Amino acid sequence: MIFENILVQKTAALAQITINRPKKLNALNKATIYELHKAFDVLESDLNIKAIILTGSGEKAFVAGADISEFAHFTAEEGATLAREGQEILFNFIENLATPVIAAINGFALGGGLELAMACHFRIASENAKMGLPEVSLGVIPGYGGTQRLPQLVGKGKAMEMIMTAGMISAEDAKNCGLVNHVTTQEELMLLAEKIASKILRNSPVAISAAIVAVNANFEDGVNGFDTEINAFGDCFGTEDFREGTNRFS
Ligand code: COA
Repeated sequence: MIFENILVQKTAALAQITINRPKKLNALNKATIYELHKAFDVLESDLNIKAIILTGSGEKAFVAGADISEFAHFTAEEGATLAREGQEILFNFIENLATPVIAAINGFALGGGLELAMACHFRIASENAKMGLPEVSLGVIPGYGGTQRLPQLVGKGKAMEMIMTAGMISAEDAKNCGLVNHVTTQEELMLLAEKIASKILRNSPVAISAAIVAVNANFEDGVNGFDTEINAFGDCFGTEDFREGTNRFS
């Protein structure tokens, strides 16, 4: 796959997507959002790929936010469309992807950048990473799911403080409040992401997809997550992975 703003590499069952606009601190412009959608879509339908790592190029940023230069002159209607389309095309799309996605946060993850990391199934970060939702300092609020996913991950009070102050937190603080699972050195970030991915690769991709659906159901309005779990659990019984996985115990 050849793209202008992102790089996609595949090594056996593991894929890596790197947002590649380092001069703009990997800010998410419209073209990058569409390219990311395409890359995730293609990788999800590639049955050889069982996990995806998402990171940013350069040593400074994962993603420093939505590209401010693209929306600075928007009307209210255009702003709402930007948020709606972005959420559908990329953020909700990643969250519901059947293939697990790990965000490897290698620097600034701000605004849309933190929202992108939060849409991934979980996050790890390097020590230099800084995270925050600075939108209110620009006179706007997070529009790519940040007001919903941040409280889910860190709790309402902490999320309110982060959003209202528009401040940045360190990688260590992010780990302490559950925003990221692990913190490591910059040099070892990708190694750690690959090590965690290698553990995922040993397990049933069908069961992992079912687990993603069941966990996500907890956060969907009007959906009973326990019922979703029961159905997804039952579906696993018909699969070859289940027969293979349980065979040595039966
Ligand atoms: N949108 C568009 N361009 C961005 C950007 C964004 N969100 N974040 C950074 N850039 C661009 C800068 O305009 C600059 O471009 P230039 O070299 O053509 O002038 C380049 O990336 C480097 O950024 P710079 O500000 O010079 O780096 P810095 O190290 O001094 O500061 C940040 C780093 C992250 C603190 C600063 O870039 C920043 O505050 N960015 C905006 C963060 C934000 O508000 N994000 C939420 C958007 S909703």
